[in-house]
Amino acid sequence: MTANRIVAIDGPAAAGQGTLARRLAACLGLPYLDTGLLYRATARRLLLAGADASDAAAAAEAARALSPPDLERTDLRTPDVDRAAAAVASVPPVRAALLDFQRSFGQANGAVLDGRDIGTIIFPQARAKLFVTASVEARAYRRWLELTGRGVHAALETVREDMQARDAADASRAAAPLRPAEDAFVLDTTVMDADAAFAAALRYVAARV
Ligand code: CDP
Repeated sequence: MTANRIVAIDGPAAAGQGTLARRLAACLGLPYLDTGLLYRATARRLLLAGADASDAAAAAEAARALSPPDLERTDLRTPDVDRAAAAVASVPPVRAALLDFQRSFGQANGAVLDGRDIGTIIFPQARAKLFVTASVEARAYRRWLELTGRGVHAALETVREDMQARDAADASRAAAPLRPAEDAFVLDTTVMDADAAFAAALRYVAARV
């Protein structure tokens, strides 16, 4: 029953899932969860504790210790957290520690969730699954614009390289690798603006949720 009210949105970095997920949630009257924040908050806790991002035991402990204020932090979208989030996300006990929260969030009243493994692992039974993607160039440019808008200055080339490294790590890890679910609707937004992507996603989702 819940499966009918879950919208699972996955895809590589900066493909536009966040914006799309937020708009879909508002339009459908569903709660929204940005699951990337859970990995980012875990990474931030780890860095604050002075631990190395590759320390699996410390990462699992950080994930188990997460509490709501950790998700409210304003320093979760920095380059060090980008890298550390991808590192902790490859640790199976970290993913295990975050699984129940994600499932409970959706099971109560349905939800829109975005991440990397929502349609494949968290809610494989969801009827509405989107895999949002775009060319590396388009995604790097969007992330660069977003950073510049926040006053963070970075070279476009560096943004592209960091993003590609993170995508490669996310797609090649053994635990919940980034890939489209077999039954996902793949939405390539390379030449779409946010409104066009939203319209296409809503057409697909409205028929299922
Ligand atoms: O905003 P952006 O697309 O750059 O990243 P994010 O969604 O905040 O996710 C940050 C990192 O968390 C990703 O690079 C993944 O390594 C990890 N992640 C994951 O493994 N599974 C999820 N469901 C969500 C994020």
